[in-house]
Parts: sequence; structure tokens; C-alpha cells
Amino acid sequence: MPFVTDPAATREDARVGGDTAERTGNEQVRLTSLAAAALGARTCGDDAAASVDGAAFPVRPQPVDVGGLLQDVVDFARALPGEHPVEAAIDPVLKALADPERIAQVVRNLVTNATKYSDPGTPITLNARREADVVEVEVCDRGIGIHPDDSERIFEKYVRGRDQLTRPAAGAGLGLYLARRMVRAHGSDLTVQPRQGGGSIFRFTLDAT
Ligand SMILES: Nc1ncnc2c1ncn2[C@@H]1O[C@H](COP(=O)(O)OP(=O)(O)OP(=O)(O)O)[C@@H](O)[C@H]1O
Ligand SMILES: [Mg+2]
Repeated sequence: MPFVTDPAATREDARVGGDTAERTGNEQVRLTSLAAAALGARTCGDDAAASVDGAAFPVRPQPVDVGGLLQDVVDFARALPGEHPVEAAIDPVLKALADPERIAQVVRNLVTNATKYSDPGTPITLNARREADVVEVEVCDRGIGIHPDDSERIFEKYVRGRDQLTRPAAGAGLGLYLARRMVRAHGSDLTVQPRQGGGSIFRFTLDAT
């Protein structure tokens, strides 16, 4: 799939310029709400804007019931457009060190993408399990998929697929950039791999407690 960093699309979708250094104060304000929206964030607009411009990205990890947190995201995902059945395989007891609001934002972002880039009615699966010293979280879809050659590029700022499958979905190419930053601020990483049978699997881990 052709991927582009498209300042024109960025202006159109996000009403910000392509070069951070050229942004005005007003553009910063719009970027703040854009980034917050991209992540489904309600309370961290300033931090989200700061992250886009490369500033520090505060997280406050604490022992968290990851299963409960993910169950809330399942409810969120079921309310998204597209009538996607949302399947969840979440271990009953899952405790990890995490900033609960940040991690909820990451997973909400991933399930939102899953609905945007797959056909209506196709299932989305959320898996979470303990593996040795970590809790592993996966969001799987049966959508258009991501070629392995593009599996790093999609995490870059303002990068979007530009084929006919991606174009109808609104976006600025910020969601995965921010989501990866949030996960990396936890000392982990967010990665993607193709799903056997079609679609994508996004995965990250958290330190188990
Ligand atoms: N689950 C997915 N399946 C297929 N392609 C995906 C998936 N998630 C992301 N992509 C591709 O990666 C690109 C970047 O995703 P990202 O979430 O950063 O931006 P966006 O969804 O385009 O916009 P935003 O999240 O800022 O609203 C998308 O434009 C799309 O081409
Ligand atoms: Mg997105």
C-alpha cells in the first residue's frame, strides 16, 4: 500500500501545517484537540500536543487491573460504527504496572483503527494474557492489513495509507505515532504483524506485578 506523509492532507484533516516549527499558537490549540481526539483522550490534550512536538511524555505507572481496564475498552469498541462483533479473551487476573488512562487511550486508539480499516461486520478481537513477567495485549482485526514493509512507517507522524481502502476513513496519521510514544514511555513497544487469514495484529506488553 502506498503510504505518504502528506502536509496537504494534514491541513485538510487536521488544520495544521506540515512543519512543526511554522505552527502558530492557534494551530497548536487545534493540534491539541486533534491529538486528543485521535487518541480518544478527554483529559490529556496538553500532553498529547506536547508529544506531537517531541516534548517529554509523562506517564504515571501504578499497579493496575488490566483486565478491568480492557473490559471498559471492549464496551467502547462495541459502540463504534461498523457493527463489528468484539471478541475478548482476557485472562481473569491480570495485574500490571501501567498508567491506566494512557493505556486505555492506546487500546481505544487501536480498536478505533481496527474498525476504520476493516469491513463493517468483521470481528475485532482483544486478547490479554500473562506471559512470564509481562502482560501481553493484542488487538486483532480482519481488515485491509499492513504490508510488512510498512510495519514501521505507519508509526511515523502524519503518515497515512493513501489507497482507496484507507482514503474514506478520516484521520491525520497521528494515532499510532502517539500510541507508540505512550507505550514506549512505559518501557515497552507497540508493534504490528500480519494476521494469518488477513488483517493485522497490534501488540504491546506491560510489566506484570
Ligand atoms: N488496523 C489497521 N489496519 C490497516 N491499516 C491500518 C490499521 N491501523 C492503521 N493503519 C494504517 O496506518 C495509518 C496510520 O494510522 P494512524 O492511526 O496513525 O492514523 P489515522 O488512523 O490515519 O489517523 P488518526 O489516528 O490520526 O485519526 C493509517 O492511515 C492506515 O493507513
Ligand atoms: Mg488512527
